[in-house]
Amino acid sequence: MSTLDTKFALFLVAFLAASCSESETRLKAENEEPLPFEPLDINALPPMSDPILARGRVIYLDSCARCHRIGKAGAPRTGDTVAWKPRIASGIEQLINHAIGGYESPTGGEMPERGGNDDLTDDEVQSAVQFMVFLSDTP
Ligand code: HEC
Repeated sequence: MSTLDTKFALFLVAFLAASCSESETRLKAENEEPLPFEPLDINALPPMSDPILARGRVIYLDSCARCHRIGKAGAPRTGDTVAWKPRIASGIEQLINHAIGGYESPTGGEMPERGGNDDLTDDEVQSAVQFMVFLSDTP
């Protein structure tokens, strides 16, 4: 098993655990100071063995990275486990729905519908979310 496969297995476990739990820490975590963070170099990552993640990577670079790489307009930065923890705890279904349908948070952050790219199918948006969660889940 490669490291990435191991990480994906852990992701699945976390995913299953997250789908059964409610998040009460979301607001608290959003109010904390962001930790220093070096944006991930997606191009330096090894190829994804999982086809969904491989597709998600392409979609992400195309349509999502311009905000999520550096956290533009309050977007949670890809790979920033602190920022993603409470979001992932809300369940991946909610993250996918927010990415497809758009979402405005109570703090005024705005996630545009399909990242502003109307050409993306639901499956494509979903694979990009899975890719982002894969890189941002707490190890
Ligand atoms: C124009 C900037 C922008 C682009 C492009 C963008 N996002 Fe976002 N996204 C945001 C912001 C801002 C938030 C945070 C909203 C908030 O305050 O919770 C966000 C939040 C999210 C969340 C978390 C939702 C939640 O429930 O916490 C997901 C998942 C997400 N984006 C996925 C995507 C995907 C997938 C793409 C590409 C298809 C994408 N985003 C493109 C700005 C962007």
